[in-house]
Amino acid sequence: MQLMLDTANLKEIEQALQYCQLAGVTTNPSIMKKEGNVPFFEHMRAIKALIGEDATLHVQVIGNDCDTIVKEAKRIHKELGDNTFVKIPVSKEGLKAMQILRKEGIGVTATSVYTTFQGIMAVLAGARYMACYYNRMLDVNIDAQQVIGEIQHFIDESGSDCQIVAASFKNIQEITSSFACGASFCTVPYDVFMKGLSMPCIDKAVEDFKKDWNAVHGENVTIADL
Ligand code: G3P
Repeated sequence: MQLMLDTANLKEIEQALQYCQLAGVTTNPSIMKKEGNVPFFEHMRAIKALIGEDATLHVQVIGNDCDTIVKEAKRIHKELGDNTFVKIPVSKEGLKAMQILRKEGIGVTATSVYTTFQGIMAVLAGARYMACYYNRMLDVNIDAQQVIGEIQHFIDESGSDCQIVAASFKNIQEITSSFACGASFCTVPYDVFMKGLSMPCIDKAVEDFKKDWNAVHGENVTIADL
């Protein structure tokens, strides 16, 4: 169980890396929009430089038809190389493209997964990762935990190497629930990530411990000063 960051913002990635090792970074066109009209591949290379060679980068295609998706995937693979996975929505055209890319040895992250059936189709198409949209499922009254659990069961039973990256989070509960029902990764927006670490009760606990220490040793004395 590992964390990825769902952002293309370099500062956010730098900040998050101070708190934990990131297994990867995921982007999509809506996330890229927030960065403005930046040079696409240079920006992706800057993300790779920050997260390191062992972390994965997941870059989404724009095209809706199989031919365009395949062309974009090949270009992404050529420009960004190893440990970059091409995000392709699990649509009819997306599945057609996945069949072709599997033969080319280009790693795919199936995305926009709302249903168990989509997940099964993506596994059968050879996807290496799968972005299941947790909060968006809840929005349309789909049981996200059940879907993730069922897809993970199918992965286990079929011996596939596909790994679930739960995505689309609005709160911490959704992240912990995703892990609890079998997701290998959660990709988390920076604001949700920080919300989980910025709780008044944590600050109060730290403050209370400090007060008790100070009561015995006085202000500004640390263990290192003893
Ligand atoms: O990684 C997919 C994710 O970005 C979708 O999130 O917040 O747009 O539902 P959201």
